[in-house]
Amino acid sequence: MQLLGIDIGGTGIKGAPVDIDKGTLTADRFRVLTPHPATPDAVAATVAEVVARFDVDGRVGATFPAVIQHGVAMTAANVDKKWIGTDARAVFEAATKKSFTVLNDADAAGVAEMTYGAGKDRKGVVVMVTLGTGIGTAVFVDGKLVPNTELGHIEINGKDAETRASELVREREGFSFRKWGKRLNRYFQTLEALLSPDLFIVGGGISKKSEKFFGFIHTRAQLVPAQLLNEAGIVGAAAAAAAES
Ligand code: BGC
Repeated sequence: MQLLGIDIGGTGIKGAPVDIDKGTLTADRFRVLTPHPATPDAVAATVAEVVARFDVDGRVGATFPAVIQHGVAMTAANVDKKWIGTDARAVFEAATKKSFTVLNDADAAGVAEMTYGAGKDRKGVVVMVTLGTGIGTAVFVDGKLVPNTELGHIEINGKDAETRASELVREREGFSFRKWGKRLNRYFQTLEALLSPDLFIVGGGISKKSEKFFGFIHTRAQLVPAQLLNEAGIVGAAAAAAAES
């Protein structure tokens, strides 16, 4: 089976058809810049452009970088505040005339890793952490997702963790990997104290360079880089849509 997956981010909106059995893209991905301001209508028009680009039947899966409860965006940490309370699923369905499954971006990346990548067949508690503009998390118990955990916003020293340890912060502040690694160490150790996971999977573009900073992170749990890298959102969104089909 093949379904369309769309990854909606603050910078780009990317889509591609996904082979659901293998977790691979069956065509090159199509990427459009995220409109600014990224209001619900503007994003829906871009999503419609991505859908129109591919001739794929069936339900479409889409990621969104916010809490998504039953299709509705409940937060907007790094996106236009107009999203709060917006039924993203209904807006995308109206713009495309297709059925949608919409889920949090980190949850989608986690679903991709648990189904096809670094978390495949892993039981127990697995925590996926995506390091990007923000910090996203996805928690799995025996392979089942606990959605919308938002552990990127836990407070450490009274500060929102993602404002101290995201990849954006590293780039913006020009931190060395050692300096950033120390902050990540604190972050992962705090997560570990709260959840005692068996496995941490680290995603986001920077996970390609895991050898540069994993050495600074000391957890009891095994720590591994994500395997699907920049395709994780697209693949996870399509896999989530398949689960609802
Ligand atoms: C948002 C999460 C999102 C994460 C990664 C955070 O700021 O609150 O919903 O998963 O960024 O994009």
